[in-house]
Amino acid sequence: MTPKIRTPLAALALAAAAALTGGPAAAQASKLKIGLMLPYTGTYAALGVAIENGFRLYVDEQGGKLGGRELEFVKVDDESDPAKAVDNVNKLIKRDNVDVLVGTVHSGVAMAMGKAAKDSGTMLIVPNAGAVAVTGPMCAKNIFRSSFSNWQPGYAMGEVVAKKGHKKVVTITWKYAAGDESVGGFKESFTKAGGQIVKELTLPFPNVEFQALLTEIASIKPDAVYTFFAGGGAVKFVKDYDAAGLKKTIPLYGAGFLTDGTLEAQGAAAEGLLTTLHYGDGLDTPRNNAFRLGYAKAYKLQPDVYAMQGYDAAQILAIGLKATKGDIAKKTEFAAALEKARIDSPRGAFALGKNHNPVQDIYLRQVVGKENKVIGVASKQLADPGRGCKM
Ligand code: PHB
Repeated sequence: MTPKIRTPLAALALAAAAALTGGPAAAQASKLKIGLMLPYTGTYAALGVAIENGFRLYVDEQGGKLGGRELEFVKVDDESDPAKAVDNVNKLIKRDNVDVLVGTVHSGVAMAMGKAAKDSGTMLIVPNAGAVAVTGPMCAKNIFRSSFSNWQPGYAMGEVVAKKGHKKVVTITWKYAAGDESVGGFKESFTKAGGQIVKELTLPFPNVEFQALLTEIASIKPDAVYTFFAGGGAVKFVKDYDAAGLKKTIPLYGAGFLTDGTLEAQGAAAEGLLTTLHYGDGLDTPRNNAFRLGYAKAYKLQPDVYAMQGYDAAQILAIGLKATKGDIAKKTEFAAALEKARIDSPRGAFALGKNHNPVQDIYLRQVVGKENKVIGVASKQLADPGRGCKM
C-alpha cells in the first residue's frame, strides 16, 4: 500500500526514510546493478560475447527494464582463469556492490563464483558453466542456472552410443571439472548399458596439442570416441581428428559444445558428427525462430547455445524480479517464483529442478552443413541428480 502524501514535508520525510532503510521505494528508483563475469579473451571468448548478447537481447525486448527496474552493467573479463576467479568475483561483490552476478563459462571459475555467492548471499545466475558442485553441494536459494549440468549431455550420449552397439570407447577431454564431469555422465549410462571405457585421455585446459593423443587412439582402435571440448579448442580438435584420418574409421561423439558456435570454422571436418545438447540451432519452433530472427537482426550474427543460455539467464532474472516487484533482496519470494515457473525458452519450455538446474530435453543433433540439425530427443526431461544439494 502506498501511503497518501498530504504535505511536501511528509513527502520529504517518506523519501528520506525509504533511502535510509533501502526500502522498496528506494530500491525501485535506482538501477539494478548486474555484474557480468565472463570470458572475453582466450579459448572461450566467443562464448562470453554470445552470452552477453543473448542477455541484452531479452532485456531490450522488455524495453530495457526487468521487474520495473532499469539495469546497469559492470563487466569483468574472467579469462577462464580459476586462479583469478576469487579476486574477480570479490571485485564485483565488494567494490562494485552488484545486485546480481551473471557468470560464467568455465566450471573452475564458476565454482569460485558459487562459493562467493553462497557466502555473501548475492544473487547468482550461471549462464553456462556446468560444474556439478554449483547445483550440488553448493546449491542455494540465491543460485540459479539457465544452462545445464556437465553430467546431462554426457549421460544422454552414453545411452545413444550404447544403443548404436558400440562396446569399447575411448574418452578424450580437458582435465578440469567440465571434462571430468561430462565424461563421468557418459561413463555412468554407457557402463550401465554394458559398455566399457577402455582409456580416459586428458590434456590440461586450454591446451590443443592433440597429436600424441590422436596417435594413441589410432593404436587402441576403440569402437568409438566420446569427447568434451568447446570454443576454440573444439574447432581445432574436430579438424585434427579428421586430418589424422580417424573420422572415417572411429566414429566421434561429443557433448554438443563440440559443434556449437564452431561450424563456420570447422567446415567439412564437422560434417555428419552426432552430439547431444539441450539446444539445436535447427529447432523449428515458433519460439526458437523468433529468438533467432531477433538475435540475427540485433547482432548480424547467428545465435548458438551460449546466446540462448544468456537470453534465458535474463528470463530467470525477469521472473524473479516480477514476483518481488523489482526488490532483489526478497530472496525467498524470488526463489519461490522460479521454483514454480515454466521458462519460455527457445530450447523448449523448461522448469528448474529443486537444485535450480534446468530439467530439460537433451536433443540428438547431427551436423548438416552449417547447422546442428535436431534428429531426435536422446533423453526426455532429464534432471541432474543434484547429488549433495540440501536447501
Ligand atoms: C564448463 O567449463 O563448464 C564449460 C565450458 C564450455 C562449454 C561447456 C561447459 O561449452
